[in-house]
Amino acid sequence: MTGSTAVLDARGVTKRFGGLTAVRDVDFTVGEGEIVGLIGPNGAGKTTFFNCLTGLYEPTAGEVRYRGRRLPSRPHDVTRAGVARTFQNIRLFPNMTVLENVMVGRHCRLREGLLSAIGRGPRYRRAEAEAEGTARELLEFAGIGRLAGSLARNLPYGDQRRLEIARALASDPGLLLLDEPTAGMNPQETERTRELVLAIRDRGLAVVVIEHDMRFIFGLCDRVAVLNQGEKLVEGPPSDVQSDERVIAAYIGGAPDDDEPEEA
Ligand SMILES: Nc1ncnc2c1ncn2[C@@H]1O[C@H](COP(=O)(O)OP(=O)(O)OP(=O)(O)O)[C@@H](O)[C@H]1O
Ligand SMILES: [Mg+2]
Repeated sequence: MTGSTAVLDARGVTKRFGGLTAVRDVDFTVGEGEIVGLIGPNGAGKTTFFNCLTGLYEPTAGEVRYRGRRLPSRPHDVTRAGVARTFQNIRLFPNMTVLENVMVGRHCRLREGLLSAIGRGPRYRRAEAEAEGTARELLEFAGIGRLAGSLARNLPYGDQRRLEIARALASDPGLLLLDEPTAGMNPQETERTRELVLAIRDRGLAVVVIEHDMRFIFGLCDRVAVLNQGEKLVEGPPSDVQSDERVIAAYIGGAPDDDEPEEA
């Protein structure tokens, strides 16, 4: 990564909620075409960190750059800048169709303003047709093209997660943040999600993925960062992180520093 601008460069990101520091002084970078895992026990601050990257929360301290530029502070502007995400608790429009959900994701790229939307002029119709074409292509890509006309709320859980990914891709991001994309999936669905993330990287995107499924993380990611009690504990290639005793201790409970010294 040296010499080129990082896709994402977060420095000293801190988020406090009153007396609780949910994220503490985290440095985190993502290079071109990288798939980076972000893991850690429940409550470690993973989702809060994503929220700080995407404008849902304003970090208490720190700075976030996307391709060298400071990210704007509002979620819509972050998406427009090129950072898209999915949510741990799926956020779809349940009473819209699958296709419509993806077309909504495209809106930040449509240049047509309010006036032509009201007038429904030819320019609006052309933009709408283009958005629909892109949305259908993305649904095929995500493996749910056959469901385009279904209501989002009628989709099985795994397909809802894939729909969220398709919708995020509709904003044409350079960086995709996935918050627990395989939660609730069976092993077959998890494997298809792994293949989907690899295909997303092949489209030229960088990806950060939060997951509790360690097999999924260590089999997919180029690099893994571990958060524990808001702080970055370890970062490195999957093989190193997997066997790091600080990581194992964090999952078993309590930071390694808190442990009683071992008997010799
Ligand atoms: N809006 C908020 N107000 C107050 N505290 C919050 C808020 N959001 C998160 N927290 C707290 O911040 C800490 C980190 O939460 P976060 O959801 O980021 O953890 P996580 O690593 O995503 O956990 P999980 O694996 O369970 O999803 C927790 O103690 C949580 O209760
Ligand atoms: Mg979370």
